[in-house]
Amino acid sequence: MTTTRPIFQHFPELVAHLPWQPLADLPTPVQPLPGLANGWIKRDDLTHTAYGGNKVRKLEFVVAEMQARGVKRAYTFGATGTNAGVAAALMCKRAGVALTVYTFDQPDSPTVQRNQALMRAAGATLVHKGTLLATVLTFYLHPARLRRDSYFLFAGCSNPVGVLGYVNAALELADQIAAGELPEPEVIVVPVGSNGTLAGLTVGLQLAGVKSRLVGVRVAESHLGPIATCTTGAVQQMVDQTTAFLRRHVPALQALQVQAPPLNDAYFGAGYGVPTPAGQAAILRFAADFDVPLEATYSGKAAAAFLDEAAATQGPVLFWDTFNSRSTDALLQSMRDDAP
Ligand SMILES: Cc1ncc(COP(=O)(O)O)c(C=O)c1O
Repeated sequence: MTTTRPIFQHFPELVAHLPWQPLADLPTPVQPLPGLANGWIKRDDLTHTAYGGNKVRKLEFVVAEMQARGVKRAYTFGATGTNAGVAAALMCKRAGVALTVYTFDQPDSPTVQRNQALMRAAGATLVHKGTLLATVLTFYLHPARLRRDSYFLFAGCSNPVGVLGYVNAALELADQIAAGELPEPEVIVVPVGSNGTLAGLTVGLQLAGVKSRLVGVRVAESHLGPIATCTTGAVQQMVDQTTAFLRRHVPALQALQVQAPPLNDAYFGAGYGVPTPAGQAAILRFAADFDVPLEATYSGKAAAAFLDEAAATQGPVLFWDTFNSRSTDALLQSMRDDAP
């Protein structure tokens, strides 16, 4: 594990404005995918020895912000099988912050059940609200918002500082390209749920001068009633928040403007968490040919898009793996062994 991050090497001014603590094992490896002439993978499934996936990068900044503010209790929300809830529960436990997770329905699956068990074993309080609307209203109208020692963490750990975890990730990829570990990808494919991963990568790749075309594969509902939740516009808002933060603190970035890429809607299927045939086929292929486990809600659908992009593209195509691949059996057992 390195003791600093590329974002601070590029922009030392941020050290004074951006609390950070090393939680992740970075950089994550980049590897060619056997049998695919132009396929590459960025192994963010390995961001942590106990529990990988994309949330750990965000939580390096989120948990540090909690600690800098003296937070005692954090609140977040997600689907019943939220991966973000698991990662937040683990990292909050480590930081001594109590976590409440408000959940809404998603199709049940072994992954959902396992994530519920993991959050409980990590000491999180789970409160099931049923619909997304009821969950979001509980989160936004919560009386604890008036307390200084509470912290409200947007779904997917995608709050303004969390997104900087993926700005940093893009700078890390640029370093790997510069070091000759992989060629500059022509296309990079990533799933999009709460938008933070894509927003951060969009900003970071532009800062690094990496010219890859970013394909964000939408895997969540585009709207909640009239509110755009997973759209190009919603990603653009997160990009704008991030660039505003960088303009405020880094004199060299005064003129920074970044455009979010259009989302790819073609792999979403019938709903959030509802498996698609193309996603299921991609999951089987990744397991059999690459020994990389994926799941049906996020990474499987994005992997289906990746396989199509790789077939249609001459140059290198990178799949950004955002799903934990560490054994959750081992993690659950270790937490149960540690329980008083
Ligand atoms: C495995 C996995 N991949 C991708 C995503 C999407 O990332 P983001 O929420 O930053 O759009 C999530 C969570 O939301 C996830 O759990």
